[in-house]
Amino acid sequence: MMMRSWMAPMGLHIEPSQPRDADAVAKLHAQSFYRGWPKQDIEAYLLDTDTPTLVACDKKRKVAGFAMLRILGDDVELMTIAVDPKYRGKGVGAALLRACFEDLMMTPSKRMILEVAADNPAAIKLYQKLGFTKLSERKGYYARPDGQPATALVMARDLG
Ligand SMILES: CC(C)(COP(=O)(O)OP(=O)(O)OC[C@H]1O[C@@H](n2cnc3c(N)ncnc32)[C@H](O)[C@@H]1OP(=O)(O)O)[C@@H](O)C(=O)NCCC(=O)NCCS
Repeated sequence: MMMRSWMAPMGLHIEPSQPRDADAVAKLHAQSFYRGWPKQDIEAYLLDTDTPTLVACDKKRKVAGFAMLRILGDDVELMTIAVDPKYRGKGVGAALLRACFEDLMMTPSKRMILEVAADNPAAIKLYQKLGFTKLSERKGYYARPDGQPATALVMARDLG
């Protein structure tokens, strides 16, 4: 069996999530996005094998970031990714995505797709750096506090 554990910057490592990570993942998600997800939804995702999640954590297993996928047959969707603000800009997000690519090598998934807000340059640069290219745009897709919805970019990257 392949070891599902990867090194990450800042003394962190990456491993599959556990149900007990729901609190930490919900907090990070709420901190990172204008619209959080109900904790019950996150609990359900962490139990569902169709939404595999990797967490970046420290030696005491305190969660500093996560990436949640949804398996859709040939495609796999990056549902969400977030890194604790204290750990951003150090390569943790990139390490999480690379771990996802490696973890998916033994599965039938052929392509990773995602949606990202056009007003989120940090995420767009991360995705471009890791080989994602833009497929299309969805205007007015994301709610914003000022009432002016933001465009979503749909991006994809071949796996394997
Ligand atoms: C997007 C996010 C996950 C990136 O995580 P991270 O650990 O900070 O990213 P990394 O340090 O691995 O950065 C990798 C690349 O992304 C780009 N990047 C990351 N942060 C950036 C920033 N603030 N501004 C510009 N580019 C940035 C850079 O190209 C960087 O590569 P480089 O360091 O070689 O220049 C993190 O900023 C975050 O949690 N944001 C809030 C949630 C979010 O927006 N998620 C994405 C939703 S689609």
